[in-house]
Amino acid sequence: MSSNSDAAAATVHAHGRLAMLAAHLLPSQLTHHGALHPLHLSSQLPPPPNLAGTLTVVDERTGKKYQLHVSKEGTVKASEFKKILTGKNDKGLKLYDPGYLNTAPVRSTISYIDGDEGILRYRGYPIEELADKSTFTEVSYLIMYGSLPSESQLAEWEFAISQHSAVPQGVLDMIQSMPHDAHPMGVLVNAMSALSVFHPDANPALRGLDIYDSKQIRDKQITRVIGKITTIAAAVYLRMAGRPPVLPSNLLSYTENFLYMLDSFGNRSYKPNPQLTRALDIIFILHAEHEMNCSTSAVRHLASSGVDVYTAIAGAVGALYGPLHGGANEAVLKMLSEIGTVQNIPEFIEGVKARKRKLSGFGHRVYKNYDPRAKVLRKLAEEVFSIVGRDPLIEVAVSLEKIALSDEYFIKRKLYPNVDFYSGLIYRAMGFPPEYFTVLFAIPRMAGYLAHWRESLDDPDTKILRPQQVYVGEWLRHYTQVNVRTTSSDADKLGEVAISNASKRRLAGSGV
Ligand SMILES: CC(C)(COP(=O)(O)OP(=O)(O)OC[C@H]1O[C@@H](n2cnc3c(N)ncnc32)[C@H](O)[C@@H]1OP(=O)(O)O)[C@@H](O)C(=O)NCCC(=O)NCCS
Repeated sequence: MSSNSDAAAATVHAHGRLAMLAAHLLPSQLTHHGALHPLHLSSQLPPPPNLAGTLTVVDERTGKKYQLHVSKEGTVKASEFKKILTGKNDKGLKLYDPGYLNTAPVRSTISYIDGDEGILRYRGYPIEELADKSTFTEVSYLIMYGSLPSESQLAEWEFAISQHSAVPQGVLDMIQSMPHDAHPMGVLVNAMSALSVFHPDANPALRGLDIYDSKQIRDKQITRVIGKITTIAAAVYLRMAGRPPVLPSNLLSYTENFLYMLDSFGNRSYKPNPQLTRALDIIFILHAEHEMNCSTSAVRHLASSGVDVYTAIAGAVGALYGPLHGGANEAVLKMLSEIGTVQNIPEFIEGVKARKRKLSGFGHRVYKNYDPRAKVLRKLAEEVFSIVGRDPLIEVAVSLEKIALSDEYFIKRKLYPNVDFYSGLIYRAMGFPPEYFTVLFAIPRMAGYLAHWRESLDDPDTKILRPQQVYVGEWLRHYTQVNVRTTSSDADKLGEVAISNASKRRLAGSGV
């Protein structure tokens, strides 16, 4: 076959697959296929009982008895433990909680997770129901303001977001000035932080700590961030592809506009495939919010200092970048490529069990059951794969999951696939490069970040976040002059700092 007829055949094949995808992915049909039916009848579970009461603590060290108040949600104020003392030099009992395994620094009404039951709800609505019936913009309104919007509220919300989708030229120039092979999440961190500089009107450092007391100013920043994030994310993508940024279109839906900016090449009449748009919109719904995860708590942490919302979000995007958090979807694809074939899986699993490496996309701090988002995504992935076809890597993923789920190591530790295991596979099927996956996570998560920022501003309990430490270092030493100091050979010291050959060349010169 000539290369022309090859290309023609490929186009026909691609159109055929898209047509099938279209047939499979219409929202209503997804339901008919059973793909996105609510998977967990979590409504059967009663709300937690009133747990209020008193906790009596007997300090065996002193024989003293203390009464601590237990709230109706079953919490004890950590500061209460301070009053438990042994004597004068004791500063009181502290809670040592590395990784915040059992520490709740906030009370929140935004989302609810029951990790043992595999439940996730936004403002009380099960995630499966929202993924099946709602849209990302509707869900982001729900997360932000607490209720599903009326028709007119939704229209106003979508209008405000689209009105704020233009990004300052300086931010676009900054994205363009980054190296073409820069990691897109690194570029995104910079772009979000640059927004702070371009919006001095919203900066408490310049306009006063109380500027966010104004609902109008808050709402403006919210619509700015949600409006601009897709334009920035698209510019980051286009930078990677060596193409210039494309202006947003305010005639398209939120997710449609995002795909338009990626794929239109500036052709204003371009319209992305509606079924692919819907699939991505569902993925956005699933990633919009997840209570006090590493990056959301970073937003609250930074915002507690009174810094502007853009800098707080840039910090959160930095946290999301990490391979143990949002970066796991990229790590999954790298891992699958490394494994290569189904035959190599047993050896890889042995390596995981020998702790030589982790099984990316498995395990979760909160879910000790199926991640409910992973369930929805697995079904969605199956729909997508049944149309666009399975590549060898997808076979590797499916077999890897099967083998891991039947292995004692993973069963004992309650390690199940998390949201990142399946999202990466769908993104790959949709043609996104792995380095870009976490950006696709960051886009919808802006809704969660902003809702937490907003909630923290209104919470009378909000204080600057300042954890304690348990000091275990040298107690007291006195300064000695450098010429009389003795150093022990096993003391920590500066190791060898590698010098590049270019530096060696320079140092070999004179006048250095
Ligand atoms: C998400 C994650 C950081 C949670 O960590 P955590 O709550 O601190 O859990 P721990 O690291 O204490 O793990 C508990 C046990 O399971 C093991 N474990 C956890 N995740 C594992 C994984 N992905 N592969 C292999 N073993 C894993 C740990 O080694 C530990 O074993 P041990 O008790 O014998 O020491 C962790 O599961 C992980 O690194 N997963 C891979 C990265 C990922 O997919 N992240 C995205 C999350 S959405």
